[in-house]
Amino acid sequence: VLHVLGARPNFVKAAPVVRGLAELGSAGATGTASGSVSGPVVRQGIIHTGQHYDALMSDVFFADLGLPEPIANLGVGSGTHARQTAALLTGLEDVILEHRPDLVVVYGDVNSTLAAILVCAKLGVPTAHVEAGLRSFDRTMPEEVNRVVTDALADILLCTSPDALSHLANEGVDPAKVHFVGNPMIDSLFAALPSLDPEKVRARLGIPERYAVATLHRPGNVDDAGKARELVDAVREVSELVPIVVPLHPRGRTRLAEAGLVTGGNLTIIDPLGYLDFLSLVKGAALVVTDSGGVQEETTMLGVPCVTVRPNTERPITITHGTNRLVTPATLPAAAAKALADGAATPTGELPPLWDGKAGPRIARVIAAWLRGDNLSPAAAQAVRASGD
Ligand code: UD1
Ligand code: UDP
Repeated sequence: VLHVLGARPNFVKAAPVVRGLAELGSAGATGTASGSVSGPVVRQGIIHTGQHYDALMSDVFFADLGLPEPIANLGVGSGTHARQTAALLTGLEDVILEHRPDLVVVYGDVNSTLAAILVCAKLGVPTAHVEAGLRSFDRTMPEEVNRVVTDALADILLCTSPDALSHLANEGVDPAKVHFVGNPMIDSLFAALPSLDPEKVRARLGIPERYAVATLHRPGNVDDAGKARELVDAVREVSELVPIVVPLHPRGRTRLAEAGLVTGGNLTIIDPLGYLDFLSLVKGAALVVTDSGGVQEETTMLGVPCVTVRPNTERPITITHGTNRLVTPATLPAAAAKALADGAATPTGELPPLWDGKAGPRIARVIAAWLRGDNLSPAAAQAVRASGD
């Protein structure tokens, strides 16, 4: 089995799957010197596409998540969508032909995911998609295009929430290919919890006890100067209510700084944080302002109020079962004030189903059954799920 990973959120989602597959074979199996993970059942390795390459966007996640060294790094780097995807396609074709895996596992909705699914479909290599079926129904988002294409081509579709099952059914995907397995990003969060230390990270960054965290990187928010200005004005207004620390994704760095997102007053702009430092800061925060997909899920589980500056979300379960609210730059200051006043009460009091820290082992069992040649019917899939609870 080869896992194709390229960007920050991929690493977080893959770690529990890699661990789950390793533990199928021999409890606690770890990486070998060559970087691949061996067990009696499944031999696996990571292909890093190099879509994200800064140490703070990549290496720190391998260390924090205990991921084995990749067996290859394609070093594709940054570019326009066409150029980056083209480099991903040619690089991945070579490496898939070299290793001839029985199955390729792809994660989420980034360009590395799209390229891997296309290459494998053309080479006839079977694929599994972790986080299948999420839809924002907004095709101006590059991620939505990647999701639709990936799910049309994947052989095994592994879903994190019930709405994803409905979307795939509506698109005519064969239900025998679809499995509701829970959310591996939440497995990583659970695994990290004992190591989180908000006080320590706060003290290191010189942040007061009550603070907010903001992350901003969506093209719709940061690529256009006018929109960036509107957003930064709103964030500055929120910073009059509560000090805000912004671990800034490299994508928006220049444009957001030009729009006035600079350290001073109640705003602290820093480099992206490693996974454990970032989650520590989120856990201790009074409020999170974000446009990230994963951060909407993590705040829901940590019970931290979250305002998401987007017109839509592919993760509506974080609104119905969590702490998330959608806002525009215009409504952000009032929504932030309300969230700070209300704290984090979830509407139903129930967290999303199967966000229980056991998604990695469930996915590993689906993959193992598939590798054995079992043709999983929905009833058999149900049994796989039940045996994990
Ligand atoms: C990508 C994903 C997005 C995901 C995000 C997670 C696509 C289409 N988008 O967006 O869905 O939410 O990752 O963080 O795949 N850069 C660096 N150093 C790096 C990586 C990127 O400086 O290590 C800068 C470069 O200027 C680059 C820009 O960030 O041009 C964008 O990087 P890219 O990977 O193309 O997209 P993201 O915005 O990171
Ligand atoms: N994250 C991190 N450091 C940061 C910002 C985010 O470790 O400075 C983590 C976050 O906890 C989550 C993942 O990165 O697990 C989300 O990635 P991102 O927001 O870049 O992508 P998205 O989820 O929007 O695709």
